[in-house]
Amino acid sequence: MGFISDLKILYHMVCAKNNGVNHEQRLENFYSSQMDHYDDFRRRLLHGREQMMGLLPFSKGANLIDMGGGTGHNIEALAPRLNILNSVVIVDLCNSLLNIAKKRIENKKWGNVSTAHADATQFKPEFQKADAITFSYSLTMIPNWFEAINHAYSLLKPGGIIGVVDFYVSRKWVSKNNTKHSALTRAFWPNWFAYDNVFLSQDHLPYLQSKFQALNLIEKKGFVPYMFGLKAPYYIFIGQKPLESD
Ligand SMILES: C[S@@+](CC[C@H](N)C(=O)[O-])C[C@H]1O[C@@H](n2cnc3c(N)ncnc32)[C@H](O)[C@@H]1O
Repeated sequence: MGFISDLKILYHMVCAKNNGVNHEQRLENFYSSQMDHYDDFRRRLLHGREQMMGLLPFSKGANLIDMGGGTGHNIEALAPRLNILNSVVIVDLCNSLLNIAKKRIENKKWGNVSTAHADATQFKPEFQKADAITFSYSLTMIPNWFEAINHAYSLLKPGGIIGVVDFYVSRKWVSKNNTKHSALTRAFWPNWFAYDNVFLSQDHLPYLQSKFQALNLIEKKGFVPYMFGLKAPYYIFIGQKPLESD
C-alpha cells in the first residue's frame, strides 16, 4: 500500500483500455493491468463487504456461491465460519482476478473453496441447489444484472439466502423505509462510475426487494479515495427466497 501504487491504480482506472469485443474481454482489459494492487485499493473503495458476509445466516454443511467473486478477498471475512460450510465457489468471468483467488485458496489451505470461470448469468454448480449466493460489487458490473438475479433465484433452494453489497442510487420517489438521494447524487455518481463500466442503478435494490424477503437492509455512503471527501452511496441487502417457492 502506498501513494505510488495508488497512482498506478488510478492511472489504470482512468487510462486502461476497458473496451473489447465482448464483456469478458472488457473485464480482462480493465483488470489485467491493475490486478497486483487490486485488493489494497478496493479495500478503501468497496465498503461494507465484510459486514455483508458477516450478516449471512449459515447452517452447517451449506453451499455458497460468490458471483463475481474476483480475487476471493471476501472469503477472508468468512474465515471464522468457513469450516462449517460444505463448499464455496468463487465464480468470475475474469481470469486475471481468478488467478489471484486460486493463489489465495492455496496459501490459506481452504480445502472447501474452489473457483469457476463462468458468467454469473449462466453458471451451473456441481451441487443441486445453493444455500446462499452473494454479489459483492459485481451486480453493477454485470450488464444483464436482472438475469443474474433471476439466475441466482433459480439456483437457490427455497429459504436460501442472497447477500448483496454494491453502489447504487435511489429512485426519485422511494417508499418510506428507503433512503432518498438528492438529484445531484442521482446524477453525479452513475456518470462518474460509468467511465469504468460500473453501472449504478436505481432498480437493483427494488428488484431484489420484489423477489426476496428482506432480512437486512443497510443504506449508507462511503468515501471514494482521492475524491476530495465525497462519499458514494452503497447498500447491503440480505434477502431470503420464499420458503414456499420452488
Ligand atoms: C468490482 S469487482 C468485485 C470483486 C469482488 N466481488 C470484491 O468484492 O472484491 C466486480 C467483479 O465482477 C466480475 N464480473 C463482472 N461481470 C461478470 C459476469 N457476467 N459474470 C461473472 N463475473 C463478472 C468482474 O470480473 C469482477 O471480478
